[in-house]
Amino acid sequence: MYKIFETVDDVSRYTAQRLLDKILAKPAAVLGLATGGTMEPVYAQLVQMLQQQPTDLSRLTTFNLDEYIGLTESHVQSYRYYMDEHLFDKLNLPRERVHLPDGMAEDIDGACLAYSAAIQAAGGLDLQLLGIGSNGHIGFNEPYTRFSSRTHVIALSEQTRRDNGRFFSDQDEVPIHALTLGIQDILEAKEIMLVATGPNKAEVMAELHHSGVDEALPASALKQHDNVTIVLDREAAALLPSAEWRAVQTVQLLAG
Ligand code: PGA
Repeated sequence: MYKIFETVDDVSRYTAQRLLDKILAKPAAVLGLATGGTMEPVYAQLVQMLQQQPTDLSRLTTFNLDEYIGLTESHVQSYRYYMDEHLFDKLNLPRERVHLPDGMAEDIDGACLAYSAAIQAAGGLDLQLLGIGSNGHIGFNEPYTRFSSRTHVIALSEQTRRDNGRFFSDQDEVPIHALTLGIQDILEAKEIMLVATGPNKAEVMAELHHSGVDEALPASALKQHDNVTIVLDREAAALLPSAEWRAVQTVQLLAG
């Protein structure tokens, strides 16, 4: 199902509201969280909503999708740092309830096994938030990752390293490897919300729309899931067929 909004602000408010609704409906929810530029305004909205509506977060559990290998948690580009900065510190979430793959683990394979197992032990993901790479990756599952994958080490594609180079002072500083939740882990979430904004995502969203289920396009795995919402702004939706655009009018009216 598509939800198409006019602006990034609308997208972020809608997505944050869905996260908040989930927490209110199930205070012990297990949330799968994502990083990246797309999620920054989503988390800003969520923090603002939670300030206006104080909510008990003490039973919430979170698992992030991915982490670079080789960046310590004090590195400003590590995803741990990102999450602390944009969400965890602002909400005062108990550290023992928030989880990210450990990109500094000595036993990386053991850490991967333990990460997927910890999600299952927590009861599985109630809601998985996803961004999408310009090459169709979800988490850091690059093209041709097996759809049956669990948490694993991935060599980042050149396209991903280029895309993410904008966050680093030097392109060469972008790590070569990362840890990511597997596609199977993602598909086991009860509900999935994929968010994409801006003109750089228009092509991959059209590709995803027309694609069959194909390991060449990791996000196409989501077509096997029966509870996925794709949340887009006008720019990311620009190359979708016109039938999808009729939905824009409805959503715009609903968004008021
Ligand atoms: P972005 O990243 O939000 O920075 O575009 C999305 C992703 O790579 O999943």
